[in-house]
Amino acid sequence: MKTFAVLGNPIKHSKSPIIHKLFSEQTKISQKYIKIYVPINNFYKKFFHFIKNGGIGANITIPFKKKAYKLCDFLTRRAQYSGVVNTIKILESKKILGDNTDGIGLLKDLQNLKFINNTSNILLLGAGGAAQGIIYPLIKFGCNVTIVNRTYQNAKNIINHFNNIKNLNCLKLEDLFIINNKIKYNLIINATSSSIQGNIPNIPSTIINPDIFCYDLFYNFNKTPFLKWCIIHGAKKISDGIGMLIEQAAYSFYLWHGIIPNTKIIIKKYKKYNLY
Ligand SMILES: NC(=O)c1ccc[n+]([C@@H]2O[C@H](COP(=O)([O-])OP(=O)(O)OC[C@H]3O[C@@H](n4cnc5c(N)ncnc54)[C@H](OP(=O)(O)O)[C@@H]3O)[C@@H](O)[C@H]2O)c1
Repeated sequence: MKTFAVLGNPIKHSKSPIIHKLFSEQTKISQKYIKIYVPINNFYKKFFHFIKNGGIGANITIPFKKKAYKLCDFLTRRAQYSGVVNTIKILESKKILGDNTDGIGLLKDLQNLKFINNTSNILLLGAGGAAQGIIYPLIKFGCNVTIVNRTYQNAKNIINHFNNIKNLNCLKLEDLFIINNKIKYNLIINATSSSIQGNIPNIPSTIINPDIFCYDLFYNFNKTPFLKWCIIHGAKKISDGIGMLIEQAAYSFYLWHGIIPNTKIIIKKYKKYNLY
């Protein structure tokens, strides 16, 4: 049986194996899909060990997406633009193809939820692999994106990566506290990993209002700490990242098997039976 995996650290919380099992059942394509915990300095060793033992495709998650980009022989156009890779396919030639399905997965979920339109002004929290991977599709869709990150230099690095592309800018965290009443954001996306440790990014609560859409890339059985905080400060329209996870997984499945699963059915099933 063809073997796939998700590699990351931490990895215990990952729901990718359940989602891929649902895709397999739906499409009748059998695949083995496992979780691999990767010690922080051991990504390349673990990855090549998996490939040597028959692995033919992988999802790469926190915090290895930039490292994954570096080991690819070929890149899809969207992976090339984003500079980060979350999906890998081993080609028949044994060369490594890298893709990024996070951005398209997020955009699809935001559209399903009606959280976005082509004039949305977006505040993006975080400047890690996930943040970098989602920017290009959002800008291409027509949105304006402002990055705010705990470490300002990491946000600056993303701006440089995209060559100062139009509609993308970054702010220092302290400046967000100064200008927060002057700029209206339609959508706030938490792409930090703060929720994993039960923390909330440090941003002014005055940004939150009943009209703003609040989206956390993290997902949880209970509401994520960030979404709880948004509700306390008046948000009415919130979502965690389970829809994105399923949408991005579907594009990975497509890269590996050439079939795109029906995600609407899976998202409905996931939420109905609380498969978190
Ligand atoms: N739903 C989905 O399909 C999906 C897909 C991809 C990722 N994700 C989620 O997205 C999140 C980020 O993943 P990633 O791959 O981008 O991780 P990453 O590359 O390790 O980046 C982590 C980011 O979070 C920031 N951060 C960490 N702890 C923080 C805290 N306590 N307060 C404020 N900022 C903090 C870091 O800031 P510094 O730069 O200052 O270190 C960095 O910007 C994770 O929760 C992951 O599970 C979800």
